[in-house]
Amino acid sequence: MKLKTITMEWTGDSLVLIDQRRLPFEEVYVTCADYRCVALAIKEMVVRGAPAIGAASAFGYVLGVKELLKKSYSYDQVLSQIRSIREVLERTRPTAVNLFWALERMEKKLMEHGKYEGLLKVVEEEALKIAKEDIEINKAIGQNGAQLLQDGFTVLTHCNAGALATVDYGTALGVLRAAKEQGKRIKVFADETRPYLQGARLTAWELMRDGFDVTLISDNMSGWVMKQGKIDAVVVGADRIASNGDVANKIGTYMVAVLAKRHGVPFYVAAPMSTLDLSIESGNNIPIEERSHEEVTNCGGRRIAPNNVNVYNPAFDVTDHELVSAIITEKGIVYPPYKENLKKLFEE
Ligand code: MRU
Repeated sequence: MKLKTITMEWTGDSLVLIDQRRLPFEEVYVTCADYRCVALAIKEMVVRGAPAIGAASAFGYVLGVKELLKKSYSYDQVLSQIRSIREVLERTRPTAVNLFWALERMEKKLMEHGKYEGLLKVVEEEALKIAKEDIEINKAIGQNGAQLLQDGFTVLTHCNAGALATVDYGTALGVLRAAKEQGKRIKVFADETRPYLQGARLTAWELMRDGFDVTLISDNMSGWVMKQGKIDAVVVGADRIASNGDVANKIGTYMVAVLAKRHGVPFYVAAPMSTLDLSIESGNNIPIEERSHEEVTNCGGRRIAPNNVNVYNPAFDVTDHELVSAIITEKGIVYPPYKENLKKLFEE
């Protein structure tokens, strides 16, 4: 039972991840043969992007189960020990809900199975199902979202919500891929996305590799390019969407949404249903990860700020639902009022 995409490969014994910290300069891979390695790879952003960390954590869970079975534990012992392994995987990154969603799904499967025999096979199949479904879901998001893009559109995107942020194909970039596959001429502006530079390092690399017309700008240029009338639509991904439609995504997304509103540019969010967290009322309840100060004081491995300067480094922000023109999911496009319409979508 295997799977191989640009982002990850499941060999049956290990999870191989393209090391996204080293892109675009080097294509090197990290091989994880145990769950601790997977947890570290998520924490240190070897693999990143909400759906990709969800799928990676599911394979981490499989490796955890495998380790427990090697110790000749009974089914009940596996069940109690896997909880702490799940916690290790969960404690890596707090904002993207897909991580918790995938691990919850894995545990549910393990409990449903209810016996020792065939346990590893069952969890492995479930992780592969999560990964393969992700690709199908992204293609469906792409088909739905492509309707919103006309031939000749120039689209601004922020961070990387592409193949690299998912198992394959991407969410926001999946929408662009689908539109291109339909024969529409689509140009892309990619925000560099300081401080981690997912836009410059990953989105530009991924889109150029696929033959897109992509123009890189630094984050402080997006307002000006919109004012110049160069942008027809913004399409971004999401890490968690609250029941009222508030969207947590990469830091800087909120700023782009405010600017889009100001300039009358539609602001679309493309995300799978697994990114919706209907258990929380608004974006105020979304935990926002704070990352190391060095990400801000350094750039390209070089210090750019005085020693001992105070630093604040939230990795995500929340875009109020009033700024979101539509949310594109695999089940269809959702328009305001989000509270009612997201609930309806879930119940369908
Ligand atoms: O910190 P990252 O790189 O994991 O943040 C990724 C993003 O914010 C993406 O836009 C989001 O996860 C959607 S990916 C399809």
